[in-house]
Amino acid sequence: MPRQLFVTTALPYANGHFHVGHIMEYIQADIWVRFQRMQGHRVHFVGADDAHGAPIMIAAEKAGKTPQQFVADIAAGRKPYLDGFHIAFDHWSSTDSAENHSLAQEIYVALREAGLISVRPVEQFFDPEKSMFLPDRFIKGECPKCGAKDQYGDSCEVCGAVYSPIELKNPYSALSGATPVRKTSDHYFFKLSDPRCAEFLEAWTQDGKLQSEVGNKIREWFTKDENGEGGLSDWDISRDAPYFGIEIPDAPGKYFYVWLDAPIGYLASLKSYFAHGGPKAKYGETRSFDEFMADPAVEQVHFIGKDITYFHTLFWPAMLKFSGRKLPNQVNVHGFMTINNGDKMSKSRGTGLDPLKYLGLGMNPEWLRYYIAAKLNSKVEDVDFNPEDFVARVNSDLVGKYVNIASRCSNFIHKYFEGNLAQLGSGDESKLQEMIPLQAVISREAVIAEALDKREFGKALRDIMAAADEINQYFDTAKPWELAKDSAQHAANSALHEVLSACMEGFKYLTLFLSPILPDVTRRAFDFLGFDQPLTWAERATPVTTIRKYEHLMTRVDPKMLEALFEPPAPAVVEAPKPGGEEIAPTITIDDFAKVDLRIAKIVNAEHVEGSDKLLRLTLDVGEGRMRNVFSGIKSAYKPEDLVGKLTVMVANLAPRKMKFGISEGMVLAGSHADEKANPGIYVLEPFPGAQPGMRVR
Ligand code: 2FM
Ligand code: ZN
Repeated sequence: MPRQLFVTTALPYANGHFHVGHIMEYIQADIWVRFQRMQGHRVHFVGADDAHGAPIMIAAEKAGKTPQQFVADIAAGRKPYLDGFHIAFDHWSSTDSAENHSLAQEIYVALREAGLISVRPVEQFFDPEKSMFLPDRFIKGECPKCGAKDQYGDSCEVCGAVYSPIELKNPYSALSGATPVRKTSDHYFFKLSDPRCAEFLEAWTQDGKLQSEVGNKIREWFTKDENGEGGLSDWDISRDAPYFGIEIPDAPGKYFYVWLDAPIGYLASLKSYFAHGGPKAKYGETRSFDEFMADPAVEQVHFIGKDITYFHTLFWPAMLKFSGRKLPNQVNVHGFMTINNGDKMSKSRGTGLDPLKYLGLGMNPEWLRYYIAAKLNSKVEDVDFNPEDFVARVNSDLVGKYVNIASRCSNFIHKYFEGNLAQLGSGDESKLQEMIPLQAVISREAVIAEALDKREFGKALRDIMAAADEINQYFDTAKPWELAKDSAQHAANSALHEVLSACMEGFKYLTLFLSPILPDVTRRAFDFLGFDQPLTWAERATPVTTIRKYEHLMTRVDPKMLEALFEPPAPAVVEAPKPGGEEIAPTITIDDFAKVDLRIAKIVNAEHVEGSDKLLRLTLDVGEGRMRNVFSGIKSAYKPEDLVGKLTVMVANLAPRKMKFGISEGMVLAGSHADEKANPGIYVLEPFPGAQPGMRVR
């Protein structure tokens, strides 16, 4: 009976593009999915964008978009990454889908009916300017332990202290700068502390299905300390409006916290895949989503990173259990991707591996798939990317061992045997088994399959490459180039023919083993071996009869590419900001400035100018014993009566200018934007109280 698998990877937040950590997880899951399919199993592999939450809502607002539009724009950028690295999800949805809204509400209602929801008041920081409760990350202030300034509400980046935002000194809102106030509101809780949950989770997490490190870690979470602290506590699953999320039924103004509906998005994406007819088209599946999920034979498999273990091994199974749904069969936890021995990926330091840059440099996506697979096992270990190691492994294993077999045999086979292969062992099964290239692969096929199924990809590749080594050594020992000197060897089924044909048979098996990891090069290799379709595991003994023309399967990595990949991004050419819409004027000396005689002036009178829609006529007193007449283009901003009696600043030594309406004897100072059309507003200067007409401004 084929297995029926429902496989997911963690849903990425829709506030940024994929980084190599996402790609690593997807490659891991994609390899496993392809392996299961090759075994004849039925797999539904789905993903989705994790759309909700305060950070996305805030980022959308900053970008001047609705959250829906913001998320849609991020989703639209996913394809080049997924296609680029041959990551073949069957379906991709969003946690903001209709399916997720209804499933989240259904699951919540079921939990409420099971008596696992409680409500209690929670005091939190509230931004009075934005009228919203502030998530921890959006409250900043001084660290309560070391006093470092500008620290986040949950932890200090200087001394590492972890605290609650209420403890911050001089807190302020990172959104508005306002001082947050404490405010209480009702929150909804999932009662994880209920004895039913504890009992269920202690059994479910400790029955051996989880990786042992994961099981051990969870045991720590269960354990209470000597003060009775620790253990499972209730989970706050609500957030107050404004929030981008799913409304909580019967609770106006309350939304599910993003982490409540995120994993439900796995089910929603599968449901949406069913609604699109995917499983029917792929496997002739006739059941509905609900019927499919009710089948106990269906296995639910999640791939996640170690940082989100708590959500997936405690909250998620408990939510499923007490809403009467299928439980995960596997939660496969992986470590992080690091560069050069644990240096955390960082873009600013130029140590990040940008997936699109990788592809843009023309680097083969299968090099990375191979390298990541070679470093992966079933443990929760970090995967370190080391550029020299990458070059060495790809060039020596993939090109030097695997591809090499095809390239070194094909010429001989075409030259002497028209591409046809010998009938190995003349049909004698036992003789066939004795042939080294066949032994090399067949003796290992079970362990390789087992390793791939158990996610021991590194081990599988070590075995595959050991087989490739044996095949290459066999070729070296048999010396086909020597044999070929003897024309008798050019006859069909000669020793030369057998050697080459055996190598091709071995190569076929290697191709099969590698096909989940390297879907593209192996598809081309199968084509070279005369197969229009990649072979499945069950078809693996199908002999190669005629090979096609050898086209280069894979090139070597040029180490220069890695230099380019890790070259820090050129500092962005930042256009100097233009204050008020124009650059600061060229520097002048103090003597230049002294030439301009600025004086405090009293506006003795102001009136409209007949025939002008821009100007006001001002009568100014600068203490000279006479009045000045000044025309000023401020009519759009001021009514004459608002100006009379006020003080301002004028340029007192400007040459008098003859205008249509009379002579202007100076200029009043006012602020305005260079682009007055786009940024209207004129602001006449007014000195602080106490200034007297005639005082010089310097
Ligand atoms: O940590 C994260 O990136 C989350 N967006 C993962 C969610 S996984 C699942 F629950 F949706
Ligand atoms: Zn600190």
